[in-house]
Amino acid sequence: MRRPLVAGNWKMNTISAEALQLAREVAAGAAAAAANADLLVCPPAPWLVSVRETLGGSNVLLGAQDACYEKSGAFTGEISVAMLADAGCSHVILGHSERRHIMGETNETVCRKVKAVLEGGLVPILCVGEQLEEREAGQTETVLDDQMAGSLTGFTAEDLSSLVIAYEPVWAIGTGKTASPEQAQAVHAHLRKWLAGQYTQELADQLRILYGGSVKPDNAAELLGQPDIDGALVGGASLKADSFLAIAAAAPAAG
Ligand code: PGA
Repeated sequence: MRRPLVAGNWKMNTISAEALQLAREVAAGAAAAAANADLLVCPPAPWLVSVRETLGGSNVLLGAQDACYEKSGAFTGEISVAMLADAGCSHVILGHSERRHIMGETNETVCRKVKAVLEGGLVPILCVGEQLEEREAGQTETVLDDQMAGSLTGFTAEDLSSLVIAYEPVWAIGTGKTASPEQAQAVHAHLRKWLAGQYTQELADQLRILYGGSVKPDNAAELLGQPDIDGALVGGASLKADSFLAIAAAAPAAG
């Protein structure tokens, strides 16, 4: 069955001392808090190597917040998948709404990144999510289907066997507004059905679909208790070890 994954997206926060302190505290509490979940932290790129060292032999996984779709060469400012793997990353967040809506990433760009990450042997965490106007206009499913199809063009079910999806309604990110457990569950069930229709039921049953958007210790248990919610992608609350670990501790045992 699907084991929950609780991932912390530190975004563009922390200087090195703060990052290492946070990593130390997460590592120290991980074994006790995360009996039922895999734990992942995604620090800013400059701290990946030192955070990896700080996490040491703990069971906390390391991820990056983005990657380049090219393998190497003249791409100033970019970071390749091979570099991230070398730094100790197992996962890469792709197509986060801040990259789509602030940095202008398109589905096509995200799709190339998914391909590069899979080819590099890492796990993509593909983010999708609708904006408030789209939800209010009744377009949530159409927008998500479009993001899924556009970000996952040209793959077989086998290619995608390691993929993680994160549903993050844009209106819930960093706003303190969370999708209700029922709203989130309905979208997760829809995404799983979409995967079954485009690929196979087996793939749909196997892939983890995380919820993200103002997940906090006090709403985590209800969200993570939904049948199609397989963990959380946590922004603000992942910057404090206590709240991040409390969210992880709210994950139910895989049924
Ligand atoms: P938030 O961010 O938990 O601060 O809403 C979630 C995310 O953007 O991944």
